Amino acid sequence: MLKHESIETNAGLLIILTLVAIGIGGLVEIVPLFYIDGTIEKVQTADGKDAVRPYTPLEQRGRDIYIREGCYTCHSQMIRPFRDEALRYGHYSLAAESQYDHPFQWGSMRRGPDLARVGGKYSNGWHVKHLNNPRDVVPTSIMPSYPWLLKNDLAYGDIKDRMIALKKVGVPYSLTQLEYDANVKKFGEEVAKMLDINNADANLLAQAQEKNTDGDPSRVTEMEALVAYLQVLGTMVDFKAHDEHEFIQFR
Ligand code: HEC
Repeated sequence: MLKHESIETNAGLLIILTLVAIGIGGLVEIVPLFYIDGTIEKVQTADGKDAVRPYTPLEQRGRDIYIREGCYTCHSQMIRPFRDEALRYGHYSLAAESQYDHPFQWGSMRRGPDLARVGGKYSNGWHVKHLNNPRDVVPTSIMPSYPWLLKNDLAYGDIKDRMIALKKVGVPYSLTQLEYDANVKKFGEEVAKMLDINNADANLLAQAQEKNTDGDPSRVTEMEALVAYLQVLGTMVDFKAHDEHEFIQFR
């Protein structure tokens, strides 16, 4: 039997064995990447389009604010495949649902509830009140207040650059007609229009004004972007249209 001491006092042997250990660890991490197509569920809508789409410009800015404010330090966005989690939060999170998230917001800390399926659970008005001062709607809440979200105008001058950066890491926002056409095929026309970088500013404004979450149509606030983001979380896949065990093969 090889003694620990004889490995630790022999630099050459230690280096070789260390490399072997790192090699095995590396393979375990790298090999699954070659099978990535088999690990991300193909979730389609009734008319054969991709159900999970990248965020609209307004949602994407909301997501940036979510990260800026450190919401992930208290909230996860990852429902695990356990019964208690499913009962409380709904269907466990699919890999497909965070495929366009850079960086993903799975999180590791739950001082507050998981937010992976919070979209549609409350009204926009509830979110505005809650974020402005959580105690107004949940008297015992320990969540901090974010009153500046209503005061701050949303800075979106750089939204195109942000989308171009995301496009570089694989999010299918479109710049050229060819890319736009591919998106029409993949997501349908309505979504493809929202993913067009050339119209990002107009799309952001239109979505903010249509929702008018903060009740003031003359301006776009950070609150409106954040609420748009929260309201889309977990709503892209219609689980009622899928068999309960359909996604199990991917686990
Ligand atoms: C210090 C920890 C903490 C931070 C930071 C935090 N939250 Fe919370 N959050 C909570 C707790 C605790 C609750 C449960 C009580 C309540 O509803 O206020 C909660 C509840 C919520 C809910 C309602 C969830 C549900 O299903 O009822 C939403 C939405 C939410 N938070 C969003 C946010 C957003 C967005 C941010 C960042 C701007 C944020 N939170 C930051 C602790 C936190």
